[in-house]
Amino acid sequence: DAALEQEAENATIGQGVVESNHAGFSGTGFVNYNNVAGSYVEYTITADQGGEHELTFRYANGTTTDRPVSVTVDGGSAQTVSFPGTGAWTTWQTRTAKVTLKAGANKIRATATTANGGPNADKLSA
Ligand code: GCU
Ligand code: CA
Repeated sequence: DAALEQEAENATIGQGVVESNHAGFSGTGFVNYNNVAGSYVEYTITADQGGEHELTFRYANGTTTDRPVSVTVDGGSAQTVSFPGTGAWTTWQTRTAKVTLKAGANKIRATATTANGGPNADKLSA
């Protein structure tokens, strides 16, 4: 069946670490992006049907500075998704983005665009 969500801790991580020191995450932890531009989490989402899907990113940002990331599907064109402060590292919220997926496995990469890195990433659902 379709795998329409993936925990960040089970995704492919480029410059980041799996941690569990801030409560409220789903699964077994979250990804702490390294605080550099270019750090990323690449999720695999397997869709039954191709077409437009809404992605939901669950995250925390305990700072007051936005942590925008660039989102691509299978290395295609990028869109920027904003991850503003959530008030605390233990306060988890969601942000969405609309993307076109193909039937089957899609690689959704969320890459930090600033030197602050991305937010702490919990999971992606489609
Ligand atoms: C703190 C926090 C981390 C977070 C980091 C950051 O160190 O404990 O979970 O990733 O700040 O600013 O990115
Ligand atoms: Ca971090």
